[in-house]
Amino acid sequence: MPFLEIVTYPNPILRKVAQPVKEINDEVVRISKDMVERMRLARGAGLAANQCGINMRIIVLESNLKKDRDPLIVLNPVIVEKDREEVVEEEGCLSFPKYFEHIGRSRKVYVKGIDLDGKELSIECEDHLARAFQHEVDHLNGVLFIDYLSPVKRTLFKKRYVTPKSIK
Ligand code: NI
Repeated sequence: MPFLEIVTYPNPILRKVAQPVKEINDEVVRISKDMVERMRLARGAGLAANQCGINMRIIVLESNLKKDRDPLIVLNPVIVEKDREEVVEEEGCLSFPKYFEHIGRSRKVYVKGIDLDGKELSIECEDHLARAFQHEVDHLNGVLFIDYLSPVKRTLFKKRYVTPKSIK
């Protein structure tokens, strides 16, 4: 079982800007691999370290929806370029159990970061993976998907959203 647990909204850690990873040590490797396990158990498409109460710029993502490819682990990810073309699709977040909303995101992004071996990554991706990158990098900056809701939908969210006690 993974040792990390997912914190849920409105836990204030979700609003903190996560700190860059300075050194890839055993702790960083252990946390990253545990995040993958936790993401898969929770059936998520991505997870950011601050969603597990860890103040580090680490994200993990499923590289495809079938989960038959290795997941991506990206340290200090930066979205270098975003396509102007936006796609509106339903999106969820492991920190908002059972809550889904339609959110507009760039269809294509170009991301840079580092992998667990310290190798520089350059990833160009689109559709589901591009959406996941935007969502997870937002997390590292304390930004949540509900921040994109219109005032009307935001009010509905506040009415509908039930804060869970804990999530396993
Ligand atoms: Ni999320």
